[in-house]
Amino acid sequence: MIDYPALWQAVLDLPSHRTAHSVHGPDHWKRVERNALIIATDSGADVEIVRLFALFHDARRVNEWEDPEHGARGAALAGLYRGKLFELSDESFEILHYACTWHTGGRHHENPTIATCWDADRLDLDRCGITPDPDYMSTNLAKKIAEHGSIDPWLNLVPTNLTP
Ligand SMILES: [Fe+2]
Ligand SMILES: [Fe+2]
Repeated sequence: MIDYPALWQAVLDLPSHRTAHSVHGPDHWKRVERNALIIATDSGADVEIVRLFALFHDARRVNEWEDPEHGARGAALAGLYRGKLFELSDESFEILHYACTWHTGGRHHENPTIATCWDADRLDLDRCGITPDPDYMSTNLAKKIAEHGSIDPWLNLVPTNLTP
């Protein structure tokens, strides 16, 4: 059982350039977590991995603009904390590591957990004034949400015991 509040706090305590409201900051991570939990109800994604992805994928950005290596650094941070602040099997960690490393460059993925991570991130693009594009989504539910233009009708799917 992962202690998510403690893990979030450990990441938030690291020195960084951002504020809570930075475009790629904690407010965004929370929405990615929420989006991923919604998509996972349909995609069959591993909920533990998608929650970890939400926290780590943008956690090691060094700026809010051009930073092509930030996914790899987020994956490395997850590796650093694994075994200390959370436990994860080798197989699951490999998926988390891949999802973080390639979340910007990778377009579609057939693994439902990786697909859910990436779609959850992309569904939050409207914060940058970019309308999420159904063609960039890998999961059926994220495609449907992007086509609709808002995740609001699906918010009731966030499991109440996992409310971010
Ligand atoms: Fe990112
Ligand atoms: Fe992101």
